[in-house]
Amino acid sequence: MKRTVSVAPMMDCTDRHDRYFLRLMSKNSMLYSEMVATKSAIHGDRKKILSFSPEEKPIALQVGGSDKNELSEVAKIAEDFGYDEININLGCPSKKVQKNKFGACLMKEPDLVSECINSMINSCKIPVTAKTRIGFDDVEDFDYLNNFLLKMKDAGCKTFIIHARKAMLKGLSPKQNLNIPKLNYEMVYKTKKENPDLEIIINGGISSTQEIKKHLEKCNGVMIGRAIYQNPYFLVDIEREIFNVKNHPTREEIAEKLLQYLEKEVKLGTKVNHIMRHTVGLYHGQIGSKNWKRYLSDNMMARDSDFQKAKHIMTIVQNNEKANQTIL
Ligand SMILES: Cc1cc2nc3c(=O)[nH]c(=O)nc-3n(C[C@H](O)[C@H](O)[C@H](O)COP(=O)(O)O)c2cc1C
Repeated sequence: MKRTVSVAPMMDCTDRHDRYFLRLMSKNSMLYSEMVATKSAIHGDRKKILSFSPEEKPIALQVGGSDKNELSEVAKIAEDFGYDEININLGCPSKKVQKNKFGACLMKEPDLVSECINSMINSCKIPVTAKTRIGFDDVEDFDYLNNFLLKMKDAGCKTFIIHARKAMLKGLSPKQNLNIPKLNYEMVYKTKKENPDLEIIINGGISSTQEIKKHLEKCNGVMIGRAIYQNPYFLVDIEREIFNVKNHPTREEIAEKLLQYLEKEVKLGTKVNHIMRHTVGLYHGQIGSKNWKRYLSDNMMARDSDFQKAKHIMTIVQNNEKANQTIL
């Protein structure tokens, strides 16, 4: 499994349609689902919640929970669905998540976490990984973090995604928790230095290929969230500069393939806006970005948007491509 570059799990963002779209730009990145609570995966509409297109692979299911029996059941379900990895969320600080006793508040309970990880590992053959933060509240201490990782290592986990800022469990909103606590990359680098046998993936605030290259000197991989959601074509730069891929798709080719996917999905009952909402950033930083966004918002974003209107997408795309080529 190659985790040199991963796209972060993001609620309301990295659903199966977004992942299909991202995969059109990147063959080499690892993709993560949104967090799914154990109870939803066990008792909910499993097919709706967990199914994905084979093109999305390799793909990890991220799960939220702290009941070892439920977690091990979901690990098995994930494996049966064809996921390549199951990842436990130990980094989300939201109130709702804390109330259900999963996410970042579990950093306070290393013994419980290692029991959970152990039972997940015993119930499936796919890798079990953990996504956590460098600390929580007033705990931002290397030894605490390292002991936490070592406990999970003893339970059998070898791959850790570490968001390089602590989680404030009280007083900050989830959004503030993604920006206000200071990034501390050095602490993540140190976990790799002290534990060369662990796979350490660094996360938080990474937004250029230069930064990726710098982190890859110290860690096994990087995970990127917002910079890719806001500017999905960044993945093409990553393919070119990090994976040395020579042939990369143009935005026009991506739009064409997405349109084929859209047509197929609409026939199956998917709403146009559920797919197209993820493409707002396709022209990020390009001439025509405003036209693209306006076109989407006028035609594609309503609950009852009509697929027929999507057919005009290629006209907008071709105009944008021409405009951008003229300035090259
Ligand atoms: C809209 C949004 C939703 C998120 N949902 C999740 C989630 O479901 N599970 C998770 O572990 N992290 C979640 N995160 C955190 C990201 O995975 C990532 O750790 C964070 O955004 C920092 O990376 P970045 O600076 O590259 O965006 C979310 C972040 C955002 C912006």
